[in-house]
Amino acid sequence: MSTTTAPQLHPDLQKFLAKKTHQLLIGGQWVDGLSGRTFDTFNPATGEVLGTVAEADSKDVDAAVAAARKALEGPWAKLSPAEREKVLHKAADLLEARAEAFAQLETLDNGKPIREAKNGDLPLAAGLLRYFGGWPTKIHGETTPVSVPYYPGSKFLHYTVREPVGVVGAIIPWNFPLLMAVERLAPALACGNAVILKPAEQTPLAALFLGELLLEAGVPPGVVNVLPGFGPTAGAAIAAHRGIDKVTFTGSTEVGREVVKASSGNMKRVSMELGGKSPNIVFADADLEAAAKGLFMGIFYNQGQCCSAGSRVFIERSKYPDMLAALAERAKTVRQGNGMDPKTHMGPLVSSEQRERVMSFIESGKKQGASLLAGGDAPAGPGYFVKPTVFGDVKDDMRISQEEIFGPVVSVMPFDDVSEVVSRANNTDYGLVAAVWTKDVKKAHLMASALKAGTVWINCYHFVDAAAPWGGVKASGYGREKGQYALENYTSLKSVWVDLN
Ligand code: NAI
Ligand code: MG
Repeated sequence: MSTTTAPQLHPDLQKFLAKKTHQLLIGGQWVDGLSGRTFDTFNPATGEVLGTVAEADSKDVDAAVAAARKALEGPWAKLSPAEREKVLHKAADLLEARAEAFAQLETLDNGKPIREAKNGDLPLAAGLLRYFGGWPTKIHGETTPVSVPYYPGSKFLHYTVREPVGVVGAIIPWNFPLLMAVERLAPALACGNAVILKPAEQTPLAALFLGELLLEAGVPPGVVNVLPGFGPTAGAAIAAHRGIDKVTFTGSTEVGREVVKASSGNMKRVSMELGGKSPNIVFADADLEAAAKGLFMGIFYNQGQCCSAGSRVFIERSKYPDMLAALAERAKTVRQGNGMDPKTHMGPLVSSEQRERVMSFIESGKKQGASLLAGGDAPAGPGYFVKPTVFGDVKDDMRISQEEIFGPVVSVMPFDDVSEVVSRANNTDYGLVAAVWTKDVKKAHLMASALKAGTVWINCYHFVDAAAPWGGVKASGYGREKGQYALENYTSLKSVWVDLN
């Protein structure tokens, strides 16, 4: 593991981290949780406490809902769409100016390599604020040429209006703490909603640091409320709350099911961005060098903690032995260490629980007879590290081939023909993404059509953009975040009839 000393922390971040307790943001005020309870968040590279955070529970959710309602009826509704755009663009400017501090915080709280935080999370988050910052003046209804058969010769004006849904509850995970927060906030705010954001208990700090920034950008008090807390308390309270009109949830499919059930009390709208077990498929006619990079990055980016991780790799049989060996060799040379070291390529997992969970999958792979070609263990010492792990000769029915591991563990399998690989690739409960590597254009498009997934990448992997829709099919969820499609999530359509007769 690399041991180079970490760079100096940005002064803004030092100031933020010096807080004795990181409080909740409710109604524009920083407050303790009503229960007075706090919890610690850890630096996963060292296991040391990084900060102490006020813990929200259902009473704080009640307070946040009241604040959000008030904001919706007051200052937020009074801002014109053009003024809303300014606020979002200001937030983007501030985030760009503070990119260094935010990137360092992401690395400290989540463990991810600083170069990924800087080159990925930060520009993507600022890009989302800019992209959705352009929408408020462009969200509009339409006029509709209606016909009324039981009123011959009649004339009506019919038009639609896109209105905010109201109070949005956003429950997000720990793998991209800032990016997930912004991915929900930017479209929700663009559409004029108020938000109650619950970051994951493992990584609460980025959302709080962002809360400060949003107030500074001119988001009126109560429009964004940030409530760190635990799933069964704060999360469940948001899912069930009758004063919340919509919930956007990102996390495990298991918890997603609970959130859907809880949402039924007031029929709140829900969108679900859940897990995956995504196929990354290499045909023998592909640019094999590019494919090799894509296989590696597809699984090991963010320590494999991506909903879109390419965790099932299928390689056409003639190229299988070589490509498998190359992937394993590359995994063995990964520079793993503290993410604050700019030379680190892979950091620790987010928590000791996640490390245990991933290690139990590795054990099951060994027991069920897959061949372990790289990694397979967790280095001793501080930090929640797991070595990048490559399993070959995996069978479709093994646990490591069916269940989401959410760690640096890849299952590699050979295949013989197109129809076989399509049916095996689709043989999963999930359907978030899929990737295909081939130089044959026809095959690429046929595969894109046959694969059951929300996103298909052809000769690339892990590409995302604020303008491109994102979401899954099957147990990977429903609804689309990002792009203009996200506006559907955060608006409701009103139909207005005017009698002109
Ligand atoms: P999780 O699904 O429990 O947590 C995600 C979010 O949901 C967190 O904010 C959590 O506090 C909240 N939550 C938990 N229980 C809740 C409840 N009953 N009601 C409302 N909100 C609740 O995920 P966890 O336990 O952190 O990770 C377990 C596995 O889930 C991972 O190993 C991975 O397989 C999957 N996962 C998938 C993610 C994705 O991006 N698709 C992200 C995080 C986890
Ligand atoms: Mg959990």
